[in-house]
Amino acid sequence: MDRTRLHRLLARESAEAERRNPRSRAAYEGAGNLFGRVPMTWMNKTAGAFPRYLATARGARVTDIDGHEYIDFCLGDTGAMAGHSPAPVTEAVQRRFAELGGATAMLPTEDAAWVGAELTRRFGPTHWSFALTATDANRWAIRLARAATGRPKILVNSYCYHGSVDESLIVVGPDGRGTARPGNVGAPCDVTLTSRVAEFNDLEQLERELAHGDVAAVLMEPALTNIGIVLPEPGYLAGVRALTRRYGTLLINDETHTLSAGPGGCTAAWDLEPDVVTVGKAIGGGIPAGAYGLSADLAARLLGRPDLDLVDMGGVGGTLAGNALSVAAMRATLEHVLTDEAFARMSKLSERFEAGVRAGIDAHGLPWSVSRLGARTEYRFTGPAPRTGSESAAASDPELEDYLHLYLANRGILLTPFHNMALMCPDTTEQDVDTHTGLFAAALTELLG
Ligand SMILES: Cc1ncc(COP(=O)(O)O)c(C=O)c1O
Repeated sequence: MDRTRLHRLLARESAEAERRNPRSRAAYEGAGNLFGRVPMTWMNKTAGAFPRYLATARGARVTDIDGHEYIDFCLGDTGAMAGHSPAPVTEAVQRRFAELGGATAMLPTEDAAWVGAELTRRFGPTHWSFALTATDANRWAIRLARAATGRPKILVNSYCYHGSVDESLIVVGPDGRGTARPGNVGAPCDVTLTSRVAEFNDLEQLERELAHGDVAAVLMEPALTNIGIVLPEPGYLAGVRALTRRYGTLLINDETHTLSAGPGGCTAAWDLEPDVVTVGKAIGGGIPAGAYGLSADLAARLLGRPDLDLVDMGGVGGTLAGNALSVAAMRATLEHVLTDEAFARMSKLSERFEAGVRAGIDAHGLPWSVSRLGARTEYRFTGPAPRTGSESAAASDPELEDYLHLYLANRGILLTPFHNMALMCPDTTEQDVDTHTGLFAAALTELLG
């Protein structure tokens, strides 16, 4: 690839982004009392000098404060996979908050049992508890796993992401051993004291680490989705389950992103049998909500332990977790929006998106790959598709990514800032997908001739 040409095009698209978005630029410049000028520092991870500011969002469409409309394939990096402000969730939230009143009364609502039963139908685990974020669902699942097994360590896959969970910030280093993930902010202790790590798709490495006998749980996504999509090779997930059972280690499937695979995520789609499922983001239809489900056996083991303070200051739970508003939103999302039928449609659209990207890649003979997990598609600047997180991490190209993101955003399409990822929601249309296909091809032609 001609890097000089890439730099020239990137500069052109950056200048165009500045020209098109004076109000966003002014808003950013006026936010000096925010740490990093944004409500959360990751909002600076956007192609261009400043983020576009949100004005409105409905279904698969977003508008910014400069008056531009976008087809949104980012969908809040999955938090809005149900589409922005879907009508059933809007109604349920309005009813709960405005008509009935009460979001934080510290009292259960009847919706919660419905949600628990539905999550059991979808994912399998029989005993559910709630959180406000997937990060907290993972943190609390980890604590419970340590309590149940009496073991100190958690094993994750290299270049995984499970939220800001201390134990997960470990990667396989050049010598093949675990080391802190670069950039880890203020680690409470050396991560190798709390964690072990293995490459995704590597059962030998997993067994070597589990054989130490100190791993309470493997916390994993059934397919990696935060370093591109890395799909499991045949037999890998069955191997993980067999090894975790052999070494007395619990298995936690984090389905926060892999929910894109279907109504019950990969766990249901691929008949997996984890001890715990964690999930967040999309299940509240845009209202903060997370959940973790325990197998009947694990729930009984924990509830039978009078030494564990599961009720008060034991370290599992939060005042706002399971609040009436989040639970009403989860019920509306699961009952009326992210239904089995919606997933079937979203998955078909994602296939179309994948085919469009593949056609663009093939037209230029690029050595890139594109992977799909149900309603989620992502491409990487390497081919064949990476089989581990480390391989995928090595293929990143921030300049190229910025060029493509800016080119698309300047023409009305949003991708997820951290990825070359596109997610479908129930409101996405074939026309939306085809618009992307056309612009993606045009961006490549400008770059490659
Ligand atoms: C697989 C997975 N788990 C957990 C999280 C954390 O979600 P949240 O930031 O909403 O807590 C993420 C966020 O991207 C994720 O991708």
